[in-house]
Amino acid sequence: MTVKTMNTADVKDLLEKVAGFNQDGGNERVKQIVHRVMHDIFQIVEDFDVTPEEFWQAVYYVGDLGANGEAALLAPGLGMDKYLDIRMDAEDEQAGLAGGTPRTIEGPLYVAGAPISDGFARMDDGSDDAAETMILTGQVTDENGQPVANAVVDIWHADTRGAYSYFDASQSEYNLRRRIRTDEHGRYTARSIVPSGYGCPPEGSTQKLLNLLGRHGNRPAHIHFFISRPGYKHLTTQINLAGDEYTYDDFAFATREELVIDATRVDDPARAEAFGLNAPFTEVVFDIQLVPTDKPELQTRHERKRALESDAA
Ligand code: DHB
Ligand code: FE
Repeated sequence: MTVKTMNTADVKDLLEKVAGFNQDGGNERVKQIVHRVMHDIFQIVEDFDVTPEEFWQAVYYVGDLGANGEAALLAPGLGMDKYLDIRMDAEDEQAGLAGGTPRTIEGPLYVAGAPISDGFARMDDGSDDAAETMILTGQVTDENGQPVANAVVDIWHADTRGAYSYFDASQSEYNLRRRIRTDEHGRYTARSIVPSGYGCPPEGSTQKLLNLLGRHGNRPAHIHFFISRPGYKHLTTQINLAGDEYTYDDFAFATREELVIDATRVDDPARAEAFGLNAPFTEVVFDIQLVPTDKPELQTRHERKRALESDAA
């Protein structure tokens, strides 16, 4: 049975009342957007002949998503974060602020207030004996190659099981999360462990929907960065390690060609020694170019809910 009711006066009237059009109070922008959202949902029900059973499944899906805290995990899987990046890239282009190292999505697993140090940090707590040591290093410059000293490079990544400290309570506080100020040459160096790829919680709401789409919920091994320095555009980005099965098949759509970085095994004992290591290690070099701006609102990260953000230094 296919019935069409969207164009009836009853439905139009209902949508206007739903969105508070007949009320003086409230917020005009919210009214307009809710009107559009509800109109489009009603239209979907009509166009796809959604049954009451299907409709209530969707309602309970949203409820479960909230209950297990996965709304911000689902968003990247549905391309929302990538879409916002596409828009910000286009805005930068329009404002003449394109260039520099490309942005890519933040993801939902940042924790504010990681320990901060100058030039170098050890990021892992040493508890994973089997992990491969990683030296992650690079230089922050402007677009002319001039070093940017005193930039804060805020780095976070998963462990060898693809799990992030804080969200994985079995890890120590701020494990694999550090902030490093670049030295006078714009350089930063971290000693850490090579991360593994990430997978959505297999029993969670995100994976449940991905299964219905015939999609996996995996990300390649990756390392997140915020880079900031007054006078420059804040940069939110991440690198995806080359050679991972999911490097070019990331469920969160964060991969960009310029951000695919080799993880190189270094066997030379002299090079290991230079980092105070007595065994071969993996080196990851990520140089970063910042774009100058005098607009203060572009110099900081966007506001969103982040773990420990309010009490962070
Ligand atoms: C998700 C997880 C990540 O580690 C990430 O970087 C991006 C997205 C997620 O679960 O949606
Ligand atoms: Fe991540």
